[in-house]
Amino acid sequence: MAWGGGWGGGAMFAGRGSGSGLPFGGIPSELADEAAKLLASEPAREPSSIRFHQRPRESEAQSLTLVRMLREHPRLVVYGSLLVIGTSLLLQTGPLLTEYAINNGMLAGHHSVSVVMACATLYLVLAVLSAYGQRVQATVTGTLASRIMHDLRIRVFTHFQRLSLDFFSDEKAGVLMSRMTSDIENLQQLIQDGISSFALQGLTMIVITAVLFSLDVTLATWTVLLVVPLLVIFSIWFHRASEAGYLLSRDRIANVLADLSESLYGIRVVTAHNRQRRNITNHRHVVGAYRDANFFTGRVNAVYGPATIMIGVLGQALLLGIGGDMVVRHQLSLGALVAFFLYLNRFFQPIQLLVQQYSSLQQGRSSVIRLRELLATTPSVDESDDALELATIEGRLTFEHVSFGYDPQRPVLEDVNLEIAPGESVAFVGPTGAGKSTLAKLANRFYDPTAGRVLVDGVDVRTVTLRSLRSQLGVVPQEPFLFAGSIRHNLRFGRAGITDAEIDEAVEVVGLGELIARLPDGLDTVVHERGQTLSSGERQLLALARAFLARPRVLILDEATSSLDLRSETIIEHALDRLLEGRSAILIAHRLTTAQRADRIVVIDDGGIREVGTPAELVARSGAYAAMYHAWLASGGRDATR
Ligand SMILES: Nc1ncnc2c1ncn2[C@@H]1O[C@H](COP(=O)(O)OP(=O)(O)OP(=O)(O)O)[C@@H](O)[C@H]1O
Ligand SMILES: [Mg+2]
Repeated sequence: MAWGGGWGGGAMFAGRGSGSGLPFGGIPSELADEAAKLLASEPAREPSSIRFHQRPRESEAQSLTLVRMLREHPRLVVYGSLLVIGTSLLLQTGPLLTEYAINNGMLAGHHSVSVVMACATLYLVLAVLSAYGQRVQATVTGTLASRIMHDLRIRVFTHFQRLSLDFFSDEKAGVLMSRMTSDIENLQQLIQDGISSFALQGLTMIVITAVLFSLDVTLATWTVLLVVPLLVIFSIWFHRASEAGYLLSRDRIANVLADLSESLYGIRVVTAHNRQRRNITNHRHVVGAYRDANFFTGRVNAVYGPATIMIGVLGQALLLGIGGDMVVRHQLSLGALVAFFLYLNRFFQPIQLLVQQYSSLQQGRSSVIRLRELLATTPSVDESDDALELATIEGRLTFEHVSFGYDPQRPVLEDVNLEIAPGESVAFVGPTGAGKSTLAKLANRFYDPTAGRVLVDGVDVRTVTLRSLRSQLGVVPQEPFLFAGSIRHNLRFGRAGITDAEIDEAVEVVGLGELIARLPDGLDTVVHERGQTLSSGERQLLALARAFLARPRVLILDEATSSLDLRSETIIEHALDRLLEGRSAILIAHRLTTAQRADRIVVIDDGGIREVGTPAELVARSGAYAAMYHAWLASGGRDATR
């Protein structure tokens, strides 16, 4: 398989095999040739060819503009522009041919069937040509738009991978999703249809005006004077009103989406608290507001469309009066008058389209601005240009005068000093919200301290590459996350090149064997959305197995065993012994069973370290930990170390 270490192929075949009640015994020999052919025809998917740099390359760092995006594809842009100009010229030949046919083929003294026929044929040919031109032009701009969007999507996604955790807690996920969906789609619309049709309509108007004046200056002047001011006034009104309507409906659809996503994510809480009726009422409000905004836009359109038609008819009436009079006085040919009529109709179309498309142009522009801002945000935890690769570490972890607060005004940790020796396991205990998880998060640079330094083997973590640091510091977070895919895929997550034998070992060590045996497809059972189909204890066991497989030098377990029953906990205790062998570790634990097994215990409270010592020392000292310990014993806690 081209993407070694992936999970696609194995899971797929194995899933089918066990579906029929038989274990998967390899591809039968008579099918091997076919299978090989099938695999050879698979598109090569090679993650190894993808480069990710924490620091953006020069081309990625440039700010996003429409011009820059278009400049990447010069051939398509030139080709598309030529097609736009060509078709807009072709489109306007019809009325001129009509004029020629009337003046030189139909009027008294000029009867000529062949001229009329020739004009009609040419009319047809040019119409077909321009239709073909428009088709090719649409293909070209479509290709251009898809390429630009493809690159942009990858660029934005890559940027998301770079940004730090604080960015994702400040920005709502829904808003970030809308950058990837509606904003990028607006832009696609703009490039695909917006720019070209804007150019096409604009050019058409210029061509028509020029032709009108070349046909007859007096009549052209009359037409422009009578029609254009009215049209401009109406168009400005429409533009303002529709923009207001558009803003209104954009806000309101955002509310609808926000309400929807909250109700869906919180469906368990909603059901438990019988909030369905109130939720429906609430949703009815936001949906109703959105409907009102749409009514408004509808009304604006309903006024503008007929109004421009009215102006057009008015123009025609005036043209009939003034132009007819000129024809009678022999100041204008009949053919020219007919051509004027035809052009006047065509003059209105582009204006209507231009005004209507103006809002999509605005929409596309504001999307560019928002995407540009997004791409310009720099990660707060960043690599320096001369960051070094951290060599294989022994596992000494040092916090030196470390202070930190998520909000600089509200410090969570103040002047923390702690040294963890290679191979030592240290338990963090303390009340809820004391800052235990926070201190651990500073070690692998989820965040950077506001003051002080964090050192790994004596090296400031800010001077090394994030990749080399994080590959050696394994974290099992407080809420383990499982990805959609098989359990095997989820376990392989931590490191490239994990073998099936290693997975089987990890499963045994953390005591997952029973669960795996119970699942219909064993390790290849697919877990859905964040592992909602598993219990939280099972998720924790999987997260532990994942950490075991990643083989980091330093392990940080944040409440990694809090959801386990007593029996699983006993299994885990043994697993932990294996897992921690020779590794330094931070164990964050409310359960003192875990804390008691650590080499040292650190009590964190009130933004700092209150007590440090071996479990025996702290129990003897009759401080905060001793109080916790005795309370725990009194409530039936079982101290296995005694
Ligand atoms: N992403 C965040 N943004 C802002 N404040 C945060 C964030 N995460 C945690 N905090 C705050 O920082 C403080 C310390 O949180 P932390 O998660 O470190 O506590 P903890 O000791 O791990 O608690 P627990 O035992 O409940 O896990 C808390 O007051 C919390 O409200
Ligand atoms: Mg915590």
